[in-house]
Amino acid sequence: MWIDCKPLAKAIEKNIKERINSLNITPKLVSVVSKDDPSIMSYLKSQGKKAEKLGISFEVIKVPPKSLLSSLNELAKDKSVSGIFIARPLPEELEEKDVFAAVPVEKDVEGVNPANLGSLIYGEELFPPCTAEAVVKILENVTELPGKRITIVGRSVTVGKPLSIMLLKRGRDATVTVCHSKTQNLVKLTKESDIVVVAVGKAHFLKKEMVKEGAVVIDVGINYVNGKWCGDVDPSVERVGYVTPVPGGVGQITTILLFDHVVRAAERQTG
Ligand SMILES: NC(=O)c1ccc[n+]([C@@H]2O[C@H](COP(=O)([O-])OP(=O)(O)OC[C@H]3O[C@@H](n4cnc5c(N)ncnc54)[C@H](OP(=O)(O)O)[C@@H]3O)[C@@H](O)[C@H]2O)c1
Repeated sequence: MWIDCKPLAKAIEKNIKERINSLNITPKLVSVVSKDDPSIMSYLKSQGKKAEKLGISFEVIKVPPKSLLSSLNELAKDKSVSGIFIARPLPEELEEKDVFAAVPVEKDVEGVNPANLGSLIYGEELFPPCTAEAVVKILENVTELPGKRITIVGRSVTVGKPLSIMLLKRGRDATVTVCHSKTQNLVKLTKESDIVVVAVGKAHFLKKEMVKEGAVVIDVGINYVNGKWCGDVDPSVERVGYVTPVPGGVGQITTILLFDHVVRAAERQTG
C-alpha cells in the first residue's frame, strides 16, 4: 500500500503560515549558487514558487566559487536574512565540509553545519538535516517507533547517519542498523526489519523479496530513468508493505521542512 504524505505536508504548511502571521517580519531564505548547472536553477525556481506560496521572501545569489566563503560571511551579518541554502552540487574545487562550516549555525536551515549535526548526538534538534527529519516525521505519522527494528540503507552525512542518531533519540527508542555498500547479508537485515529506509541512489534497488510482510518502507531515493522520476524502492514492494511514493513522499516533506526551519530561524532571530 502507498503511504499518502499529502495530509502531513498540508499540516506542516498550515503551521508555517500561522507562525508567519504572528511574526512581525517576513522570513527570508537566500539560496547561494556557485556553479552553472541548469538542474540547480530549475530546482531553485520551484523553491522560489514554494516560498512565495508560503509567504516567505526568497532570493537567489550567484557567486564565483572563490567568493563563496566571504559571501556566507556577509549573509551571516545581514539581519534581513533568516536562513541560507547552499545549492549543490558544489564546484569541484570546494570542500563541502568547509562550506557547510561557514554557514552560520543560527541560519543553517538545511542542518549541514558540523555544530548542528553534532548537537543531534545530545538529542538536540534545532536544525536537523531536512531529509532525515522528513523521514522521522513520516514514520511518527504512520507508526509507533519505540522498540521497532529499523534498517537504514545508506550512510551519507545528510541522510543515513543523522537519521540513525535521530531514531535512537530517547522517546523514539528504535533499534537501528545502518547499512552501506560493504554490508554483508543485506537482505537478511532488511527482511528482519519492521521499518526499512532506503537512501542509496539506485533506481528500484529494494525488491519485494527483501521486505517482510507489513513492513513500513521509506523511499528517500530520487532517480531519473527513461524520462521519469523514480525512487530506490521497486514498485512491487507496495504489494507487501507500506511504501512512500516517489515523487510525492520524502522529497515533498523535505522541501516543506526547509521552510519550516526558515520560519524557526526568523522566530529565534526576533526573540
Ligand atoms: N528526497 C530527498 O529530499 C532527498 C534528499 C537527499 C538525497 N536524496 C536521494 O537519496 C539518494 C541517496 O542520497 P545520499 O546523498 O544519501 O547518497 P550518497 O551520499 O550517494 O550515499 C549513498 C549510500 O548508499 C550506499 N550504497 C550504495 N550502493 C549500495 C549497495 N549496493 N548496498 C548497500 N548500500 C549501498 C553507499 O554506501 P558507501 O557509503 O559504502 O558508499 C552510501 O552510503 C539519492 O537518490 C538522492 O538523490 C533525496
